[in-house]
Amino acid sequence: MDPLVLGIESTCDETGVALVRGLDLLGEAVASSMEEHARFGGIIPEVASRAHLEEMIPTIEAALGSACMDLRDVDAIAVASGPGLVGSLTVGVAAAKALALALDRPLYGVNHVVGHVAVDELVHGPFPERFLALVVSGGHSSLLMVDDIATGVRELGQTLDDAAGEAFDKVGRLLGLPYPGGPHVDRLARGGDPTAIAFPRGLTAPKDFAKYPYDFSFSGLKTAVARWIEACVDDGREVPAADVAASFAAAVADVLVTKTLRACDDHGVDTVVIGGGFSANSQLRELAASRCEAAGITVRIPPIRYCTDNGAMIAALGSAAVRRGVPPSDLGIGVDSAMPLGVPVA
Ligand code: KG4
Ligand code: ZN
Repeated sequence: MDPLVLGIESTCDETGVALVRGLDLLGEAVASSMEEHARFGGIIPEVASRAHLEEMIPTIEAALGSACMDLRDVDAIAVASGPGLVGSLTVGVAAAKALALALDRPLYGVNHVVGHVAVDELVHGPFPERFLALVVSGGHSSLLMVDDIATGVRELGQTLDDAAGEAFDKVGRLLGLPYPGGPHVDRLARGGDPTAIAFPRGLTAPKDFAKYPYDFSFSGLKTAVARWIEACVDDGREVPAADVAASFAAAVADVLVTKTLRACDDHGVDTVVIGGGFSANSQLRELAASRCEAAGITVRIPPIRYCTDNGAMIAALGSAAVRRGVPPSDLGIGVDSAMPLGVPVA
């Protein structure tokens, strides 16, 4: 029988704990401090760390309870040791070390971003031999080449400025929507015309494509949206919010999917896994499904609750590492707020 891995996630505002054996998710629990940040219009690191401290033990207990298990059943501990907010990461890593030490079990410090990909194996079954992963969230927009989820991840490109979710949150603010704006812009965009305004597609001009084939840039697009809204207001016209949202969302989805398909072609890969909180975005989901189908590429996207931060993604990556015989992390492991994506297990 595969070892039972307890995974702990605390990189940002979600405290997540899950139990995974092999590819089976046996129990999980998640607590979020997002409501405490909403009134500030952004995540306040100190508030997030404090919430993790309060929620860590109840969340571990809830996850064990949902699996009808005891701490003594756990064979290994996995924890997201980066990238993320230093204070938040520290709470999770300290909890994981305490458990590893007290239970005398191996500790695996794993990469949060790679976890966003790893979780898909729990839902859609074993990964193919090689695949591409697009991880999109409030903090990341990265294209990864994956030869092995626990030992062979290579970053092909990432955003040079804003992440996709971050750009949505900023446009949400421009349109007067509540924080986080991403899901609100998505909803508004569904009622608008995506072809109404020709917003720029960052880093897709031929010279940019040559220099930055797999990188993204969304800050120019965000500025273009801001200028367009300003011009509208200056002219005394009403801002067609749904059309702005739809045209903006179409530009983001277009760039993400175009670059992902280009990477598939260049690397001879026929499967793409999309993960991270922004993969909840309906414009991205629809465009990825239609263009990948046309190109003969299989797309795997986990259900939305496994796209946002959760413990299952960390337990899944820990489970993959244990099954591959990857050596455990040192108990003296630190947190790495900027952990490179080519390091699945620290
Ligand atoms: O992965 P995640 O839960 O947290 C981070 O690690 O950042 O991603 C949250 C981000 C936020 O920026 C949120 O606005 C965005 O993903 N988001 C969306 C949608 N759902 C979440 N953006 C656009 N459309 C959505 N449906
Ligand atoms: Zn995340």
